[in-house]
Amino acid sequence: MKKSLFLIGLAALGLAGCSTSGRSEVDRKVDELLGKMTIEEKIGQLNHISPFTPEMGREAVASASTGALLNVFDPAEANELQRIAVEETRLGIPLLFARDVIHGFHTLFPIPLGQAATFDPEVVELGARVAAVEASAAGIRWTYSPMIDVARDSRWGRVAEGAGEDPYLASVMGAAMVRGYQGDDLSQPNTMAACIKHFAGYGAAEGGRDYNTTKIPVRELRNSYLPPFKAAVEAGAATLMTSFNEIDGVPSSGNEWLLRDVLREEWGFKGVVVTDWNSSGEMVAHGFAADLRDATCKAVNAGVDLDMMSMGFSRHLKELVESGEVSEKRLDEAVRHILTLKYRLGLFDNPYVDLERQKEVDYCDEHLAAAKRCAVESAVLLKNEDATLPLKGVRRLLVTGPMADAAHDQNGTWSFDGQPEHTVTPLAALREVEGLQVDYLPGLLYSRDNSTDRLPAVTAAARQADAVAVFIGEEAILSGEAHSLADLKLQGAQSRLIAAARASGRPVVVVVMAGRPLTIAEELKECDAMLYCFHPGTMGGAAIADLLLGKAVPSGKTPVTFPKVTGQLPLYYNHNNTGRPVVGNEVLLENIPLQAGQTSLGCTSFYLDAGWEPLFPFGYGLSYTTFAYSDVKADKEVYGTGDTLAVEFTLANTGEYDAVEVAQLYVQDVTGSIARPVKELKRFARVALKAGESRTVRFELPIAELAFYGLDNSCKVEPGQFRFWVAGDSASGEPRTFEVK
Ligand code: GLC
Repeated sequence: MKKSLFLIGLAALGLAGCSTSGRSEVDRKVDELLGKMTIEEKIGQLNHISPFTPEMGREAVASASTGALLNVFDPAEANELQRIAVEETRLGIPLLFARDVIHGFHTLFPIPLGQAATFDPEVVELGARVAAVEASAAGIRWTYSPMIDVARDSRWGRVAEGAGEDPYLASVMGAAMVRGYQGDDLSQPNTMAACIKHFAGYGAAEGGRDYNTTKIPVRELRNSYLPPFKAAVEAGAATLMTSFNEIDGVPSSGNEWLLRDVLREEWGFKGVVVTDWNSSGEMVAHGFAADLRDATCKAVNAGVDLDMMSMGFSRHLKELVESGEVSEKRLDEAVRHILTLKYRLGLFDNPYVDLERQKEVDYCDEHLAAAKRCAVESAVLLKNEDATLPLKGVRRLLVTGPMADAAHDQNGTWSFDGQPEHTVTPLAALREVEGLQVDYLPGLLYSRDNSTDRLPAVTAAARQADAVAVFIGEEAILSGEAHSLADLKLQGAQSRLIAAARASGRPVVVVVMAGRPLTIAEELKECDAMLYCFHPGTMGGAAIADLLLGKAVPSGKTPVTFPKVTGQLPLYYNHNNTGRPVVGNEVLLENIPLQAGQTSLGCTSFYLDAGWEPLFPFGYGLSYTTFAYSDVKADKEVYGTGDTLAVEFTLANTGEYDAVEVAQLYVQDVTGSIARPVKELKRFARVALKAGESRTVRFELPIAELAFYGLDNSCKVEPGQFRFWVAGDSASGEPRTFEVK
């Protein structure tokens, strides 16, 4: 009998019980242990390795030259290594096992970009909880997640791993994942320490090319890229990972201002700072460190506690301490951070994993149901001409396309531990539908397949069916780390496949499964409906089948802007206005008269060949029903900086389906000491309404949340005029105003 996800042990007695001195019980234990440690044992605790062979792991553990390992995910192997550490080393300090559990461990949820599309922090927190329950049963108590890098350029393959382009959405989703992983008592054996990453500014890689330089002014960093990290720290994130990139010449793994002044002093972060894989060693390649010894010195003194795989700490830290280039105090502070985490995780009292747990929790019914719910909510309906969807009266459906039965690729990037044999594909799910005849012709064998010889058969088969469902998108390998694309067009002959289906004259529904927004403007014209799913994970097929057949109604919204063409990137809704915003009468390429006058096309910020608008804006998504917003009003016209803005509006479901609308509140600071975004998401809510139902909805926003880092680099609310919008996406709604005195 599969045990429920929510069966968690009794709350353990808090390890952090405070003694009279105000120092916690854990602090006392850490100090006592630290006092016994040799410098070699201290440095061993800071050396975080991925053992390439079991022997390498055993040797490193037996010699106490590591205290935390990544990529050990077999519980028996973890227990054996733990036994060596606890029973065969001088001090018996337990190991901490880590893994990239990014969107689920065995049961895979949609990739994080898809989870962001739900605009549902509750289901995202649930997903992280499921991941923690499954991964901890394998001995993993530390995940390198959530990734909360704001990304405005979808050429960057890692846009798949985060919450998209908006700082507020990323803040809400990052905090939800931290809560889900860590629960309310980190000493519970079915929790994991979160690791917020990649600190910071990694998503601003020039050209969307992974690992590339970023040039982020400090105010922009603080106003756009740091807020999700601050929110995750406030949510209690136990650890943080430094990013590969440099910001204006300073690699994050050696950035003392970022790791000490901002993270520790301003935000009061008390957890562990770990580098990314060899990111401290890479400071040599950056040209920021002369050699590994120098890089190690810079990283430790900047505030890095743990070294992931540069080996610089194990090779050079002892001599750096003995020479005084790194103080004993700094060394002890780093060791204190990791020992505190191990105590908080309960590892000293409970170092071993219960080998019975895994078979109870993996792929249990609650986990699969949660994954399916998330996949349903993550799907974004981009087009639905003549109510093609949901498929009604369709008795015979042709299923085609390289993603129709692609379990591995449907799982998306960072799915090391998701087993494709558990993945429900759209084909498998549709074949289970009572009374529906499903014909299947892949047409293409994989997303990059250029062969067109199978396409005529698709047209012929489509003519025999009542409708066609074309499953296209990206193989999993085409997004994620180091997988940036210079062109976001559909790969292979996928466009030709859609045209082949279209040629049958039957209704064509396109379902995209990808790790990023693709430039699908032309393909949109060739279909009657399009459902966009960001690699939906284990239960993606079951979710898509329910959505296509009307057992569920789409509610997802775009967490990133969809460009018409790649050349528009970076493209994001919360941009500054420029001094020459478009006015709407710009002349585009196809309308330029011969020998047109130099300034006749409009001297504003647009592209002759692509205009200025995206294909779809941030926050966009259709439903099978329609919604109407009315009576939008604020409770006052003028606010003090200590007040709360209360916005009320009526939301009506004006269609025939019970459905959920993600209502969004955007605010603009019209004039500031620096130019401000044309609008910023400040609240959102999923509102469930029955067909015909309407409801008054209320958003409350403390005026203090309108604070930003202005010209003098201080963070405050600047009095003046503000506009706000309430709508179903970032490009809709009428502005209303209020003033802050
Ligand atoms: C990778 C990624 C990081 C990941 C780490 C460990 O290079 O940048 O996100 O957590 O290494 O696998």
